[in-house]
Amino acid sequence: ADETTILVERRGNIGLITLNRPKALNALNRQLAAETVASLRDFDADERIGAIVLTGSPRAFAAGADIEEMATVRFTDFYMDDFLAAWDGLRGVSKPIVAAVAGYALGGGCELALMCDIVIASEDAQFGQPEIKLGILPGIGGSQRIARSAGKALAMDLVLTGRNMDAREAKAAGLVSRVVPADQLLHEAIETAHVIAGYNAPSVKMAKEAVNRAFETPLAEGLRAERLLFQAAFATEGQKEGMEAFVAKRAPVFRGR
Ligand code: HXC
Repeated sequence: ADETTILVERRGNIGLITLNRPKALNALNRQLAAETVASLRDFDADERIGAIVLTGSPRAFAAGADIEEMATVRFTDFYMDDFLAAWDGLRGVSKPIVAAVAGYALGGGCELALMCDIVIASEDAQFGQPEIKLGILPGIGGSQRIARSAGKALAMDLVLTGRNMDAREAKAAGLVSRVVPADQLLHEAIETAHVIAGYNAPSVKMAKEAVNRAFETPLAEGLRAERLLFQAAFATEGQKEGMEAFVAKRAPVFRGR
């Protein structure tokens, strides 16, 4: 069997997945896609896990889809055997995913970061959609997610020129949640995941679902969904515990459900 392309660890109640193809700057080949999505889904199904961190190396989060693997693929191969569809599995993960991005996040690497729920970037991170230079275009959501989160102007600029953008520009554009010094990146991401994992798990799941509705529905539908999810939170033990604890001026203790 091939070596694995990722490292998977559990740190208390969070899951940590590290992309690990250092010789190819974590280029996203089929094996890496399958392993990453399978691990995300395993953590999603594990009651002991409350949030997941996805990271790469200091040099690269991921430098894109594996160009060597794609070089000889023909349309009908891609169409009949849509290997990018593996990444669609990430949308089914209901626990928050925090991306910790250092170095290059290009092409599919940028798109993968944008599929995550919170993106924490190190000051040296570089984002971009350079596919146009290879004669192609983004394939796992870049054109859509950048346009929706940052607007048409930046989406067209990045997708049509293939230029890189630094972490500060990505943050200003709303594509990145926080920018931190490189030596604090993983710590910040893991702490963030720990904070989330300490909350009422059903409301965390509902909150992620509510925000995601903003990208998928008209405002009136999204508001209706949010209201129903808000009401549903009152069916959880965590709501009782959270509010009782506040009133009693003590720290809440949330159980898994
Ligand atoms: C395969 C890759 C790769 C990639 C880097 N490598 N990116 N292999 N696919 N996407 C390999 C290089 O071939 C090289 O292997 C090693 O990683 C180190 O890369 P270098 O180029 O030597 O490093 P450097 O000079 O520092 O340049 C870094 C870089 C450059 C600027 C990130 O590697 C680069 O431009 N990479 C391609 C970026 C890109 O075009 N991404 C979009 C891909 S298309 P050797 O064996 O020579 O050491 C895409 C489509 C998305 O993502 C569709 C859905 C997923």
